Amino acid sequence: MTAKLADKYGPWGVVAGGSDGVGAAFAHRIAAAGINVVLVARRVPVLEACADEIRAEHGVDVRTVALDLSASDAVARLVDATADVEVGLFVYNAGADDISVPFLDKDVDTHLSLVRRNCGAVLEAAYRFGGPMVERERGGVVLVTSGAAWAGGASLAAYGATKAFDLVLAESLWAEWRGHNVDVLSLVLGMTDTPSLRRTLAAKGDAAPDGIATPDDVAETALRHLGDGPTWIHGAGDPTGPSPLGALPRRDAVLAMSRSWAEE
Ligand SMILES: NC(=O)c1ccc[n+]([C@@H]2O[C@H](COP(=O)([O-])OP(=O)(O)OC[C@H]3O[C@@H](n4cnc5c(N)ncnc54)[C@H](OP(=O)(O)O)[C@@H]3O)[C@@H](O)[C@H]2O)c1
Repeated sequence: MTAKLADKYGPWGVVAGGSDGVGAAFAHRIAAAGINVVLVARRVPVLEACADEIRAEHGVDVRTVALDLSASDAVARLVDATADVEVGLFVYNAGADDISVPFLDKDVDTHLSLVRRNCGAVLEAAYRFGGPMVERERGGVVLVTSGAAWAGGASLAAYGATKAFDLVLAESLWAEWRGHNVDVLSLVLGMTDTPSLRRTLAAKGDAAPDGIATPDDVAETALRHLGDGPTWIHGAGDPTGPSPLGALPRRDAVLAMSRSWAEE
């Protein structure tokens, strides 16, 4: 996979949300393939520590861009910071919800900020980075989404809706760009052992269960299957198969989603 990735997509990759968890694992895997990486995140010490580690381990160029992806000028700033390099691989990873509560228990600005980071910025980044890939007929895009996208569910309203947006956006771009040699993958994750998940569970007094997916396994599998879009359901028996709730009437799917979240 290693040499092939650099030949196919190089010379630069961007990971939005690339300083820990799944994003850092993507960045390591991309760098290990000899592709230089741009890492985006808010917390500068975590971002710089991750960048230093990648430089030391893989010897590629690493650029850091500290910004909040929910800000309205975030993608414009990222485009500026990468204007002098050819970005052939783009991963939009940032997207978790820090706390799942009923819709009205969060203030509306928090919901709107999530929508900007998980929808507006994803769309703008896909447009700004995907456009040049289509033009040069070479590239790869991964949009990370979630099983929360399969149906609505209590305490998942804004998060699930944004993840459904990402899933449909990636699938649509796959359909449009497949004839242009640009691979697009909608990467659907279940529970994955990241710092963000651990913080969310700790806030509820819970710990990460044993046996859940690891960030490195997610990143390795997704990069290996980047050409197998439109959708990869990580950990499913049939990762390119149907939605696990697809056979249910919508009402039953929504109730099942609500129950599964409440039980976690
Ligand atoms: N972990 C799971 O169990 C799970 C399950 C299903 C789906 N997913 C999906 O997998 C993806 C990764 O999840 P994750 O658990 O690793 O947590 P995450 O918080 O989505 O991602 C962590 C990375 O994103 C950065 N980030 C978060 N918000 C940002 C913002 N507003 N602006 C810039 N950077 C930001 C973080 O750095 P800073 O905090 O320093 O900004 C860090 O680098 C998400 O799209 C999530 O929806 C995760």
